Amino acid sequence: MQKLKWENNLTKKIDGLCEIFPDVIKNRWKNRLVYNSEKIAAYENSTIVTEDIFWKSVYEVFPGGYEPLILKIKDPARLKADMESSRNQENMEPGTEPVKITQWSKQPDVDSSVPKNKKILAVNSSARKGGNTDIILDELLRACEDNGSTIEKLQLCDLNIKPCSGCRACRKGDVKTICTIRDDMSAVYEKLYDMDGFIMGFPIYTARENGIMANFMDRWDCFANPQLTRKWPGMKKGMVVCSWMWPNTTAYDNIVENMVILLRLHKVLTTDVLVITGTRGKKHGRGVVKNHPEILNTAYQAGIQFLKTL
Ligand SMILES: Cc1cc2nc3c(=O)[nH]c(=O)nc-3n(C[C@H](O)[C@H](O)[C@H](O)COP(=O)(O)O)c2cc1C
Repeated sequence: MQKLKWENNLTKKIDGLCEIFPDVIKNRWKNRLVYNSEKIAAYENSTIVTEDIFWKSVYEVFPGGYEPLILKIKDPARLKADMESSRNQENMEPGTEPVKITQWSKQPDVDSSVPKNKKILAVNSSARKGGNTDIILDELLRACEDNGSTIEKLQLCDLNIKPCSGCRACRKGDVKTICTIRDDMSAVYEKLYDMDGFIMGFPIYTARENGIMANFMDRWDCFANPQLTRKWPGMKKGMVVCSWMWPNTTAYDNIVENMVILLRLHKVLTTDVLVITGTRGKKHGRGVVKNHPEILNTAYQAGIQFLKTL
C-alpha cells in the first residue's frame, strides 16, 4: 500500500484516525489517506511523507464535519478546549457569543439599481420558528420587501409534504401533473414556477441538511423529467442559508455545496451563500443571531445584493 517512506509513527496516527470506523469501511479510508499523502509528497518533490504533508492530506480527505476526529489524534488538548468553550457558550451573556456569519460571494457595493416587483420565495426547513435560520431568512426578506419586491416565506414544518413515493409517474411522457401525491406540494410547485428568486434555509442536523429539507428536495425530482409538459421557465436565481453549532466556519461546506449543485440541476442558480456558525447560547442557542446586529446587517445587505442579481 505504501510506496514512499513515512516519518515515524504516522502509520499509527492513521490507525487512530480510523479507529471508530467499522471494518467494512476502515480500509477504504486508510487507503485514501495513504494515497493522498503520497500524492501530495510527490507533488512537493518529497521522497518522504512528513508530518506536515500527512495532516495536509488528512484535512483534504476528511470532510470538515470530521474535525473532532482529527483533533482527537492531532491535538487532543485543542479538541478539549474547543468542546469546553463551545459548551460554555450556553452561559454567555447575550451578544457576547462567538457566533459568526460567512458570506461566500460578497461583491463590492456597486451602485447598480435594484429591480422592483420581483417575487421572492423563501423556505425554512428548521422547525424552530424564530430560530437562527428563520431570523436570517427574515432579514433577507425584509431587504427584498424594503426594495419593492413581494415576499413569501414557507415554514416547511407546517406543511403537509409527504415523502416521495418513488412511483416514477413523473418520468412518463406527456406528464401534465407534476407529482401524483396530493398534498401541500401541489401549491408549492405553483409558487416555485411563479417565483423570480428562491431563498433556501436549513440547519445542519447530524452532519447533513436536516430531514425536512432532504424530504422537500426529493419532491423536486419530478422537475428533472425531460418530458415534463410544463417546462420550468428558464434559469432562476437562488440564495442558500445554512446554520450550524460547531464553531468551525467551513465544517459543513460540503453539504452546502451539495445543495448548491442540487439546486443548479433543478435550474436554480445560487449566487450567494450565508453560513451561520457557532450558534450556541442560552436556551440551546435558539435565535442567538438576533443578539448580533452586525450579523443581521450582513444578511440585510446580502438581501439587497441578491435582488441586484435578478
Ligand atoms: C438533531 C440535531 C442535530 C444536530 N447536529 C449538528 C451537527 O452535526 N453539527 C453541528 O454543528 N450542529 C448540529 N446541530 C445544531 C444545529 O445545527 C444548530 O443549532 C442550528 O443553528 C439550528 O438552526 P435553527 O436555530 O434555525 O433551528 C444539531 C441540532 C439538532 C437539533
